[in-house]
Amino acid sequence: MKISTSFLSSKNIPRDLTILNDTDVDYIHVDVMDGKFVKNKTMPFKEMKNIYKFTSKRLDVHLMVAKPYKYIKNYASLNTEYLTIHAEVEEDVGDLLNLIKSYGIKCGLSIKPTSDLELLRPYLSQVDLILVMAVEPGQGGQEFLPDTVERIKQIKKMLKDVKSKALLSVDGGINADTKKLIGTAVDILVSGSYVTNSNNFQDAIDTLR
Ligand code: DX5
Ligand code: ZN
Repeated sequence: MKISTSFLSSKNIPRDLTILNDTDVDYIHVDVMDGKFVKNKTMPFKEMKNIYKFTSKRLDVHLMVAKPYKYIKNYASLNTEYLTIHAEVEEDVGDLLNLIKSYGIKCGLSIKPTSDLELLRPYLSQVDLILVMAVEPGQGGQEFLPDTVERIKQIKKMLKDVKSKALLSVDGGINADTKKLIGTAVDILVSGSYVTNSNNFQDAIDTLR
């Protein structure tokens, strides 16, 4: 199982990224919020881009923004492996996914816990990653919504039907207990507060693998 750690709930981002850089975590999950798509707002890109000073890990960028178009070029310029937008955005999803790919970066599509999974269907052959939200996006430290387990099953079937090789990732409320509910059904677990609030990041990551 690959692990991607979010620093959204971190109280000291330089310190936590430095510690994470010495673990075997696979990705740093970068949550970007615009104050419109979700209530909260994260730091502007000119500050966010400085994370390169503290981490050499590949980035898994999660854009929780209503209009991703103007964010894509900036986040594509970082050490980004996956650049993920939401299926519920106000711009054309197909065009946005193509724009991400035009930078040679893998594209992801995320879906909120209450959105109809049919929103994903038109893009299943185009995407490299589906990021299934297990909490309402907007903040770290929330409880995993159990319906997510069934939604993951349904998405897996949808992907199989079109022979898509897209990876599945799940984000929100992931810890050693909720991981058991998911088992091996996904490829990547995104975990924030469970790791960054722990006393030993590597130990926490080990329990998720
Ligand atoms: C939620 C974010 C998540 C969040 C995960 O809106 O997209 O990435 O930071 O944090 P935990 O693991 O604390 O739920
Ligand atoms: Zn996220």
